Amino acid sequence: MRMVRPHRSPKGLFDPYYVPKRLLHRDRELDTVNGMYRDSVEEDYGVNCLVHGISGVGMTVFSRYFLTKLVPEQFKSHTVYVDAKHKDTLEIVSELNDKIHRETNRPITVAFDLDVLWMQFKRTASATDRRTIFVIDNIDETNEDVYTKVARLSKEIKASTIGVLNSHDYRLLTKLPATHMSYDFEVPLDTYTQSQLYDIVRMRVEDTFPHQLTEEVVRYVTDLVVEFDASKPKTSVEALKALWPLASSGQEIDSDAIRSATMNITSFAHDNDYIDLIETISMNDYMTLLVLEAMCEHLMRYKTETYIDRQTLNELVEVKSEELSVRYAPDDIEKSLQTLIFQSIIFESGYSRNLLYVLAPPEIIYDAAIGLRRELARRK
Ligand SMILES: Nc1ncnc2c1ncn2[C@@H]1O[C@H](COP(=O)(O)OP(=O)(O)OP(=O)(O)O)[C@@H](O)[C@H]1O
Ligand SMILES: [Mg+2]
Repeated sequence: MRMVRPHRSPKGLFDPYYVPKRLLHRDRELDTVNGMYRDSVEEDYGVNCLVHGISGVGMTVFSRYFLTKLVPEQFKSHTVYVDAKHKDTLEIVSELNDKIHRETNRPITVAFDLDVLWMQFKRTASATDRRTIFVIDNIDETNEDVYTKVARLSKEIKASTIGVLNSHDYRLLTKLPATHMSYDFEVPLDTYTQSQLYDIVRMRVEDTFPHQLTEEVVRYVTDLVVEFDASKPKTSVEALKALWPLASSGQEIDSDAIRSATMNITSFAHDNDYIDLIETISMNDYMTLLVLEAMCEHLMRYKTETYIDRQTLNELVEVKSEELSVRYAPDDIEKSLQTLIFQSIIFESGYSRNLLYVLAPPEIIYDAAIGLRRELARRK
Protein backbone atom coordinates (compact mmCIF):
# COMPACT_ATOMS: atom_id res chain seq x y z
CA MET A 1 0.00 0.00 0.00
CA ARG A 2 1.21 3.46 -0.82
CA MET A 3 1.75 5.82 2.03
CA VAL A 4 0.02 9.15 1.93
CA ARG A 5 2.49 11.78 0.90
CA PRO A 6 3.18 14.40 3.52
CA HIS A 7 1.68 17.77 2.80
CA ARG A 8 4.18 19.81 0.83
CA SER A 9 4.45 23.43 1.56
CA PRO A 10 6.64 26.20 0.20
CA LYS A 11 7.01 27.37 3.80
CA GLY A 12 9.89 24.92 4.00
CA LEU A 13 11.71 27.06 1.48
CA PHE A 14 10.55 30.56 2.23
CA ASP A 15 10.38 30.64 6.02
CA PRO A 16 13.86 31.42 7.40
CA TYR A 17 12.90 29.77 10.71
CA TYR A 18 11.56 26.59 9.18
CA VAL A 19 12.69 23.50 11.04
CA PRO A 20 12.63 20.27 9.04
CA LYS A 21 11.29 17.12 10.66
CA ARG A 22 14.79 15.72 10.80
CA LEU A 23 18.07 17.53 11.04
CA LEU A 24 20.45 15.56 8.89
CA HIS A 25 24.09 14.85 9.68
CA ARG A 26 24.24 16.77 12.93
CA ASP A 27 23.83 13.87 15.33
CA ARG A 28 27.16 14.32 17.03
CA GLU A 29 26.67 18.05 17.58
CA LEU A 30 23.09 17.56 18.76
CA ASP A 31 24.29 14.92 21.22
CA THR A 32 26.82 17.40 22.56
CA VAL A 33 24.33 20.16 23.35
CA ASN A 34 21.75 17.73 24.50
CA GLY A 35 24.18 15.97 26.84
CA MET A 36 25.44 19.23 28.32
CA TYR A 37 21.93 20.42 28.90
CA ARG A 38 20.86 17.12 30.43
CA ASP A 39 23.78 17.19 32.88
CA SER A 40 22.94 20.74 33.86
CA VAL A 41 19.35 19.80 34.52
CA GLU A 42 20.22 16.70 36.49
CA GLU A 43 22.86 18.39 38.59
CA ASP A 44 21.05 21.66 38.88
CA TYR A 45 23.30 24.32 37.41
CA GLY A 46 23.14 26.73 34.51
CA VAL A 47 25.21 26.17 31.41
CA ASN A 48 25.89 28.44 28.44
CA CYS A 49 27.21 27.64 25.05
CA LEU A 50 28.13 29.13 21.72
CA VAL A 51 27.14 27.61 18.39
CA HIS A 52 29.23 28.84 15.49
CA GLY A 53 30.09 28.12 11.87
CA ILE A 54 30.41 29.82 8.53
CA SER A 55 27.41 31.80 7.51
CA GLY A 56 24.83 29.66 5.76
CA VAL A 57 26.02 26.34 7.18
CA GLY A 58 22.87 25.82 9.23
CA MET A 59 23.41 27.49 12.61
CA THR A 60 19.90 28.84 12.95
CA VAL A 61 18.24 25.58 12.03
CA PHE A 62 20.55 23.70 14.40
CA SER A 63 19.70 25.83 17.41
CA ARG A 64 16.02 25.90 16.56
CA TYR A 65 15.90 22.15 16.06
CA PHE A 66 17.33 21.65 19.51
CA LEU A 67 15.03 24.25 21.05
CA THR A 68 11.77 23.35 19.35
CA LYS A 69 12.12 19.59 18.85
CA LEU A 70 14.62 17.99 21.21
CA VAL A 71 14.03 20.06 24.31
CA PRO A 72 10.21 19.71 24.42
CA GLU A 73 10.52 15.95 23.87
CA GLN A 74 12.73 15.45 26.92
CA PHE A 75 12.51 18.32 29.34
CA LYS A 76 9.92 20.52 30.92
CA SER A 77 11.74 23.71 30.08
CA HIS A 78 10.66 27.09 28.90
CA THR A 79 12.20 28.02 25.59
CA VAL A 80 12.86 31.49 24.24
CA TYR A 81 14.35 32.26 20.84
CA VAL A 82 15.38 35.75 19.78
CA ASP A 83 16.98 36.71 16.50
CA ALA A 84 19.21 39.65 17.35
CA LYS A 85 20.12 40.53 13.79
CA HIS A 86 19.68 44.22 13.00
CA LYS A 87 18.04 44.85 16.36
CA ASP A 88 19.24 47.28 18.97
CA THR A 89 19.57 46.43 22.62
CA LEU A 90 16.15 47.82 23.51
CA GLU A 91 14.45 45.72 20.85
CA ILE A 92 16.25 42.55 21.91
CA VAL A 93 15.55 42.98 25.60
CA SER A 94 11.95 43.84 24.96
CA GLU A 95 11.55 40.73 22.80
CA LEU A 96 13.14 38.59 25.51
CA ASN A 97 10.79 40.16 27.99
CA ASP A 98 7.70 39.58 25.85
CA LYS A 99 8.61 35.99 25.22
CA ILE A 100 9.42 35.02 28.78
CA HIS A 101 6.11 36.50 29.90
CA ARG A 102 4.25 34.61 27.21
CA GLU A 103 6.05 31.37 28.10
CA THR A 104 5.26 31.70 31.76
CA ASN A 105 1.79 33.05 31.21
CA ARG A 106 2.27 36.25 33.09
CA PRO A 107 0.77 39.60 32.29
CA ILE A 108 3.23 42.14 31.01
CA THR A 109 3.44 45.79 31.96
CA VAL A 110 4.17 48.04 29.06
CA ALA A 111 7.53 49.73 29.33
CA PHE A 112 9.89 51.50 26.97
CA ASP A 113 12.85 52.05 29.20
CA LEU A 114 15.75 49.64 28.89
CA ASP A 115 16.43 49.39 32.61
CA VAL A 116 12.80 48.82 33.40
CA LEU A 117 12.50 46.18 30.69
CA TRP A 118 15.60 44.39 31.91
CA MET A 119 14.28 44.45 35.49
CA GLN A 120 10.98 42.97 34.38
CA PHE A 121 12.73 40.36 32.33
CA LYS A 122 15.06 39.44 35.15
CA ARG A 123 12.26 39.20 37.66
CA THR A 124 10.10 36.96 35.50
CA ALA A 125 12.96 34.81 34.28
CA SER A 126 14.09 34.24 37.87
CA ALA A 127 10.67 33.36 39.18
CA THR A 128 9.80 30.54 36.81
CA ASP A 129 8.93 27.10 38.08
CA ARG A 130 10.87 25.53 35.25
CA ARG A 131 14.28 25.97 33.73
CA THR A 132 14.60 28.17 30.71
CA ILE A 133 16.73 27.91 27.62
CA PHE A 134 17.40 31.12 25.76
CA VAL A 135 18.73 31.17 22.24
CA ILE A 136 20.14 34.43 20.98
CA ASP A 137 20.81 34.11 17.28
CA ASN A 138 23.16 36.30 15.26
CA ILE A 139 25.37 37.69 17.99
CA ASP A 140 27.78 40.31 16.73
CA GLU A 141 29.74 43.32 17.98
CA THR A 142 26.61 45.43 18.28
CA ASN A 143 24.73 43.08 20.60
CA GLU A 144 27.32 40.95 22.38
CA ASP A 145 26.52 42.80 25.61
CA VAL A 146 22.99 41.49 25.60
CA TYR A 147 24.22 37.95 25.13
CA THR A 148 26.72 38.36 27.94
CA LYS A 149 24.13 39.80 30.29
CA VAL A 150 21.65 37.03 29.58
CA ALA A 151 24.35 34.38 29.88
CA ARG A 152 25.44 35.75 33.27
CA LEU A 153 21.88 35.92 34.47
CA SER A 154 21.40 32.34 33.30
CA LYS A 155 24.14 31.20 35.64
CA GLU A 156 22.46 32.91 38.57
CA ILE A 157 19.05 31.48 37.88
CA LYS A 158 20.17 28.05 36.60
CA ALA A 159 18.97 28.67 33.13
CA SER A 160 20.93 28.17 29.89
CA THR A 161 21.79 30.50 27.08
CA ILE A 162 22.89 29.43 23.64
CA GLY A 163 24.55 32.12 21.60
CA VAL A 164 24.63 31.63 17.83
CA LEU A 165 27.18 33.47 15.75
CA ASN A 166 29.09 33.15 12.51
CA SER A 167 32.79 32.25 12.42
CA HIS A 168 33.85 35.80 11.72
CA ASP A 169 32.08 37.24 14.76
CA TYR A 170 33.11 34.23 16.82
CA ARG A 171 36.79 35.00 16.20
CA LEU A 172 36.26 38.68 16.71
CA LEU A 173 34.40 38.36 19.98
CA THR A 174 36.08 35.40 21.64
CA LYS A 175 39.70 35.65 20.66
CA LEU A 176 40.32 39.11 21.99
CA PRO A 177 42.64 39.21 25.00
CA ALA A 178 39.90 40.55 27.26
CA THR A 179 36.96 38.46 26.23
CA HIS A 180 33.71 39.23 27.95
CA MET A 181 31.79 36.46 26.30
CA SER A 182 30.63 34.11 28.94
CA TYR A 183 30.21 30.51 27.88
CA ASP A 184 31.04 27.04 29.14
CA PHE A 185 31.38 25.15 25.93
CA GLU A 186 31.05 25.60 22.23
CA VAL A 187 29.63 23.66 19.33
CA PRO A 188 31.43 24.31 16.07
CA LEU A 189 29.36 23.37 13.04
CA ASP A 190 31.44 22.06 10.17
CA THR A 191 30.53 22.29 6.52
CA TYR A 192 28.91 19.24 5.01
CA THR A 193 30.48 16.79 2.60
CA GLN A 194 29.16 16.51 -0.92
CA SER A 195 26.96 13.54 -0.14
CA GLN A 196 25.65 15.08 3.09
CA LEU A 197 24.69 18.25 1.25
CA TYR A 198 23.03 16.11 -1.38
CA ASP A 199 20.93 14.41 1.33
CA ILE A 200 19.88 17.76 2.74
CA VAL A 201 18.85 19.13 -0.63
CA ARG A 202 17.02 15.92 -1.47
CA MET A 203 15.11 16.09 1.80
CA ARG A 204 14.16 19.73 1.24
CA VAL A 205 12.91 18.86 -2.23
CA GLU A 206 10.81 16.05 -0.81
CA ASP A 207 9.42 18.35 1.88
CA THR A 208 8.55 21.17 -0.42
CA PHE A 209 8.29 20.40 -4.12
CA PRO A 210 4.91 19.75 -5.64
CA HIS A 211 6.52 17.77 -8.41
CA GLN A 212 9.68 15.94 -7.66
CA LEU A 213 12.93 17.15 -9.10
CA THR A 214 15.07 14.60 -10.85
CA GLU A 215 18.22 13.12 -9.40
CA GLU A 216 20.19 15.08 -12.01
CA VAL A 217 18.76 18.40 -10.83
CA VAL A 218 19.54 17.74 -7.19
CA ARG A 219 23.05 16.61 -8.10
CA TYR A 220 23.75 19.54 -10.35
CA VAL A 221 22.64 22.05 -7.70
CA THR A 222 24.78 20.22 -5.14
CA ASP A 223 27.81 20.03 -7.43
CA LEU A 224 27.64 23.75 -8.11
CA VAL A 225 27.26 24.68 -4.45
CA VAL A 226 30.08 22.39 -3.35
CA GLU A 227 32.38 23.64 -6.09
CA PHE A 228 31.57 27.33 -5.89
CA ASP A 229 30.08 28.14 -2.51
CA ALA A 230 31.74 26.13 0.24
CA SER A 231 28.95 23.55 0.49
CA LYS A 232 26.51 25.97 2.09
CA PRO A 233 23.04 24.49 2.46
CA LYS A 234 21.71 28.03 2.46
CA THR A 235 22.83 28.51 -1.13
CA SER A 236 21.20 25.24 -2.16
CA VAL A 237 17.95 26.27 -0.53
CA GLU A 238 18.17 29.65 -2.30
CA ALA A 239 18.50 27.80 -5.59
CA LEU A 240 15.48 25.64 -4.75
CA LYS A 241 13.52 28.81 -3.98
CA ALA A 242 14.31 30.13 -7.43
CA LEU A 243 13.25 26.83 -9.02
CA TRP A 244 10.08 26.50 -7.00
CA PRO A 245 7.79 28.74 -9.11
CA LEU A 246 8.80 26.88 -12.26
CA ALA A 247 8.30 23.46 -10.72
CA SER A 248 4.96 24.32 -9.19
CA SER A 249 3.66 25.59 -12.50
CA GLY A 250 4.44 22.15 -13.85
CA GLN A 251 7.40 23.15 -15.97
CA GLU A 252 10.27 20.76 -16.35
CA ILE A 253 13.45 22.00 -14.75
CA ASP A 254 16.27 22.03 -17.27
CA SER A 255 19.95 22.82 -16.93
CA ASP A 256 19.40 26.44 -18.00
CA ALA A 257 16.99 26.96 -15.12
CA ILE A 258 19.50 25.53 -12.63
CA ARG A 259 22.29 27.70 -13.98
CA SER A 260 20.15 30.75 -13.63
CA ALA A 261 19.05 29.75 -10.11
CA THR A 262 22.68 29.52 -9.03
CA MET A 263 23.80 32.55 -10.99
CA ASN A 264 24.94 34.54 -7.98
CA ILE A 265 27.54 32.00 -6.90
CA THR A 266 28.86 31.32 -10.37
CA SER A 267 28.56 34.79 -11.85
CA PHE A 268 32.31 35.37 -11.77
CA ALA A 269 32.67 32.59 -14.30
CA HIS A 270 30.19 34.16 -16.65
CA ASP A 271 32.47 37.13 -17.06
CA ASN A 272 34.93 34.79 -18.72
CA ASP A 273 35.66 35.60 -22.27
CA TYR A 274 35.16 32.09 -23.52
CA ILE A 275 36.31 32.82 -27.03
CA ASP A 276 39.56 34.14 -25.70
CA LEU A 277 40.02 31.34 -23.23
CA ILE A 278 39.20 28.58 -25.64
CA GLU A 279 41.36 30.14 -28.31
CA THR A 280 44.34 30.15 -25.98
CA ILE A 281 44.05 26.57 -24.83
CA SER A 282 43.18 25.10 -28.16
CA MET A 283 45.91 26.80 -30.14
CA ASN A 284 46.09 24.56 -33.16
CA ASP A 285 44.44 21.85 -31.12
CA TYR A 286 41.68 20.57 -33.27
CA MET A 287 40.81 17.72 -30.93
CA THR A 288 40.13 19.90 -27.90
CA LEU A 289 37.71 21.95 -29.95
CA LEU A 290 35.97 18.82 -31.18
CA VAL A 291 35.57 17.51 -27.65
CA LEU A 292 34.03 20.76 -26.51
CA GLU A 293 31.77 20.88 -29.49
CA ALA A 294 30.54 17.32 -29.03
CA MET A 295 29.88 17.83 -25.34
CA CYS A 296 27.98 21.07 -25.80
CA GLU A 297 25.96 19.72 -28.69
CA HIS A 298 24.78 16.92 -26.45
CA LEU A 299 23.89 19.25 -23.57
CA MET A 300 22.07 21.59 -25.96
CA ARG A 301 20.06 18.75 -27.43
CA TYR A 302 19.11 17.22 -24.06
CA LYS A 303 18.29 20.20 -21.91
CA THR A 304 17.21 18.23 -18.89
CA GLU A 305 20.48 16.34 -18.83
CA THR A 306 22.94 18.24 -16.76
CA TYR A 307 25.88 15.89 -17.21
CA ILE A 308 27.49 13.84 -19.92
CA ASP A 309 29.43 10.71 -19.05
CA ARG A 310 32.86 10.04 -20.48
CA GLN A 311 31.76 7.00 -22.45
CA THR A 312 29.02 8.88 -24.29
CA LEU A 313 31.35 11.74 -24.95
CA ASN A 314 33.98 9.42 -26.40
CA GLU A 315 31.42 7.91 -28.72
CA LEU A 316 30.20 11.31 -29.87
CA VAL A 317 33.73 12.48 -30.57
CA GLU A 318 34.41 9.31 -32.48
CA VAL A 319 31.40 9.88 -34.71
CA LYS A 320 32.33 13.49 -35.27
CA SER A 321 35.91 12.60 -36.15
CA GLU A 322 34.76 10.06 -38.68
CA GLU A 323 32.44 12.58 -40.29
CA LEU A 324 35.25 15.07 -40.54
CA SER A 325 37.86 12.44 -41.44
CA VAL A 326 40.02 13.41 -38.53
CA ARG A 327 42.43 10.79 -37.28
CA TYR A 328 43.19 10.63 -33.58
CA ALA A 329 44.41 8.35 -30.83
CA PRO A 330 41.86 7.50 -28.09
CA ASP A 331 44.21 9.06 -25.55
CA ASP A 332 43.82 12.40 -27.26
CA ILE A 333 40.26 12.79 -26.00
CA GLU A 334 41.38 12.30 -22.42
CA LYS A 335 44.26 14.71 -22.91
CA SER A 336 41.90 17.34 -24.25
CA LEU A 337 39.54 16.77 -21.34
CA GLN A 338 42.35 17.21 -18.84
CA THR A 339 43.21 20.58 -20.35
CA LEU A 340 39.59 21.69 -20.35
CA ILE A 341 39.10 20.59 -16.74
CA PHE A 342 42.33 22.24 -15.69
CA GLN A 343 41.18 25.48 -17.27
CA SER A 344 37.77 25.27 -15.58
CA ILE A 345 35.80 25.11 -18.79
CA ILE A 346 34.60 21.61 -18.03
CA PHE A 347 34.06 20.25 -14.49
CA GLU A 348 34.01 16.76 -13.04
CA SER A 349 31.10 15.96 -10.79
CA GLY A 350 31.92 15.37 -7.14
CA TYR A 351 29.78 12.22 -7.32
CA SER A 352 31.71 10.59 -10.06
CA ARG A 353 34.66 11.61 -12.15
CA ASN A 354 32.81 10.02 -14.98
CA LEU A 355 30.18 12.75 -15.04
CA LEU A 356 31.15 16.00 -16.70
CA TYR A 357 29.36 19.35 -16.64
CA VAL A 358 29.81 22.92 -17.74
CA LEU A 359 29.12 26.15 -15.94
CA ALA A 360 28.50 28.44 -18.87
CA PRO A 361 25.47 27.93 -21.08
CA PRO A 362 26.60 25.25 -23.55
CA GLU A 363 25.51 27.47 -26.47
CA ILE A 364 28.17 30.01 -25.61
CA ILE A 365 30.96 27.45 -25.42
CA TYR A 366 29.68 25.72 -28.52
CA ASP A 367 29.73 28.91 -30.57
CA ALA A 368 33.24 29.71 -29.46
CA ALA A 369 34.48 26.20 -30.17
CA ILE A 370 32.91 25.79 -33.57
CA GLY A 371 33.99 29.24 -34.72
CA LEU A 372 37.58 28.53 -33.78
CA ARG A 373 37.55 25.07 -35.27
CA ARG A 374 36.35 26.37 -38.62
CA GLU A 375 39.02 28.99 -38.56
CA LEU A 376 41.64 26.34 -37.87
CA ALA A 377 40.31 24.25 -40.73
CA ARG A 378 40.49 27.20 -43.11
CA ARG A 379 44.06 27.95 -42.19
CA LYS A 380 45.17 24.40 -42.96
N1 LIG B 1 21.37 19.46 8.58
C1 LIG B 1 20.38 20.07 7.92
N2 LIG B 1 19.25 19.40 7.62
C2 LIG B 1 18.27 20.02 6.98
N3 LIG B 1 18.30 21.31 6.56
C3 LIG B 1 19.40 22.01 6.83
C4 LIG B 1 20.50 21.44 7.52
N4 LIG B 1 21.47 22.35 7.62
C5 LIG B 1 21.01 23.46 7.04
N5 LIG B 1 19.77 23.28 6.56
C6 LIG B 1 18.98 24.28 5.82
O1 LIG B 1 19.86 25.19 5.19
C7 LIG B 1 19.35 26.52 5.21
C8 LIG B 1 20.33 27.46 5.87
O2 LIG B 1 20.39 27.17 7.23
P1 LIG B 1 20.40 28.31 8.36
O3 LIG B 1 19.46 29.41 8.04
O4 LIG B 1 20.25 27.62 9.65
O5 LIG B 1 21.88 28.81 8.17
P2 LIG B 1 22.70 29.87 9.06
O6 LIG B 1 24.02 29.22 9.28
O7 LIG B 1 21.91 30.26 10.23
O8 LIG B 1 22.85 31.05 8.02
P3 LIG B 1 23.01 32.63 8.29
O9 LIG B 1 24.45 32.91 8.15
O10 LIG B 1 22.21 33.26 7.19
O11 LIG B 1 22.46 32.93 9.65
C9 LIG B 1 18.05 26.44 5.93
O12 LIG B 1 17.01 26.34 4.99
C10 LIG B 1 18.19 25.17 6.74
O13 LIG B 1 16.94 24.62 7.08
MG1 LIG C 1 21.15 32.05 10.86
